[in-house]
Amino acid sequence: MGFLDSVDERHVDATAKPEDLRAALDVPFRDEGVPAPVVLDELAEAVDAGLTASAGPRFFGFVTGGAHPVGLAADWLAAAWDQNAALYAASPAAAVVEEVASRWILDVLGLPASASVGFVTGGQMANTTALAAARHEVLARVGWDVEQDGLQGAPPVDVLVGDAAHATILAATRVLGFGSRRVRRVPCDAEGRIMSFELDRMLSESSGPAIVCAQAGEVNTGAFDPLDEIADAAAARRAWLHVDGAFGLWAAASPRLRHLLDGYRRADSWATDAHKWLNVPYDSGLAIVSSADAHRAAIGLSAEYLPPAPGGGRDNCMYVPEMSRRARGFAIYSTLRTLGRSGVTDLVERCCDLATRMAANLGASPHLRVVNDVVLNQVLVALDAPVDRLPVATAATIDRIRRDGTCWLGGTTWRGMPAIRVSISNWSTTEDDIDRSASAITGAAEAVLSESVASAPS
Ligand SMILES: Cc1ncc(COP(=O)(O)O)c(C=O)c1O
Repeated sequence: MGFLDSVDERHVDATAKPEDLRAALDVPFRDEGVPAPVVLDELAEAVDAGLTASAGPRFFGFVTGGAHPVGLAADWLAAAWDQNAALYAASPAAAVVEEVASRWILDVLGLPASASVGFVTGGQMANTTALAAARHEVLARVGWDVEQDGLQGAPPVDVLVGDAAHATILAATRVLGFGSRRVRRVPCDAEGRIMSFELDRMLSESSGPAIVCAQAGEVNTGAFDPLDEIADAAAARRAWLHVDGAFGLWAAASPRLRHLLDGYRRADSWATDAHKWLNVPYDSGLAIVSSADAHRAAIGLSAEYLPPAPGGGRDNCMYVPEMSRRARGFAIYSTLRTLGRSGVTDLVERCCDLATRMAANLGASPHLRVVNDVVLNQVLVALDAPVDRLPVATAATIDRIRRDGTCWLGGTTWRGMPAIRVSISNWSTTEDDIDRSASAITGAAEAVLSESVASAPS
């Protein structure tokens, strides 16, 4: 509880060094146990300085989300109930809650009610699961049973992904046996969007089974691929279209932002995270497939000792690449019910408005340039410094911001240029958090640039 009470105001970065954490945690492991209250008190004390305030309002690294109190409470219940969510027989409640939450997810994301939903660990497994369904379907169409016969000797599958595809798409292609080197990279524009005429051209170069991976929300810029044009190109070739919308798919919940996703419903599968923009605790992602049959055929399992759900009910393990697991559905169900459709819309739009405010604040500094088109919740800024000084000055600015502790930012390299990412996806972030953070960021940039001018050779 001490952590949650302090999360809004504590130093946002972890202040402990690895050796401090090892010294505090690496206590002797003895024959005799230690009383639980002592263990928990000592654990909380030992890790405190090693925790980032990633659940708080000014952690803008990666795309982190937060934990809305109701989802956190439901997750505590899930842990206390200790339900195995694999099978209806093991937990009827966990099965039915995922059945209901699936419908609500499809409703809030505007996806076909007949699609199937797997409650996976995160975006990585959502992409992997959806692409397993893609692999099943495109090979089944040419008479190849990949689940039985594997990929050795199978007709080659042409997998096309944008040049700015997320690393987890490539990891998924490795896991699924496509080989990341054999995946074809489609050129993207300056915001990281697939250029659909290039995709058209590349798709026309092959004729066999094909899978296209598009993206809704590039991790640096927040940009959306032109999904309608991509859907046309995929349809012309009967290619499977997958959309990685780890955070961007939530734009569907906003009438104001939905246009960014034009054409997304025409895809065959979608991946998104609940632990990002829905703000449920880690770990929680969603693999959504238009053909429930392809989804189950690719990933489901059965065994003599596993009784199927009665009356055509849901066995959650048919939709995820794991069997026994935590009952993730309780947190998603509770958060969606508490927020309602309008609460999800508000959460998404508020974060985007705050991103616009952050961009305006940072863009007003003579030391910083906003380098992306801020269409969603991502702001990408670069220092206004000579190119040869950018790498060192950018790293020094990020380091200074983290040591200051007002907010937490990550770095990236965008189109060869070192830049700083600001990602806003926490339910508790306010305008005041943005203004405080912007002044910490501009102050750090100014200090670093004036130091580097002072130390530059004359
Ligand atoms: C576009 C995109 N896809 C996939 C992922 C991976 O999600 P996860 O970290 O939940 O596996 C991310 C993470 O930021 C992302 O931005």
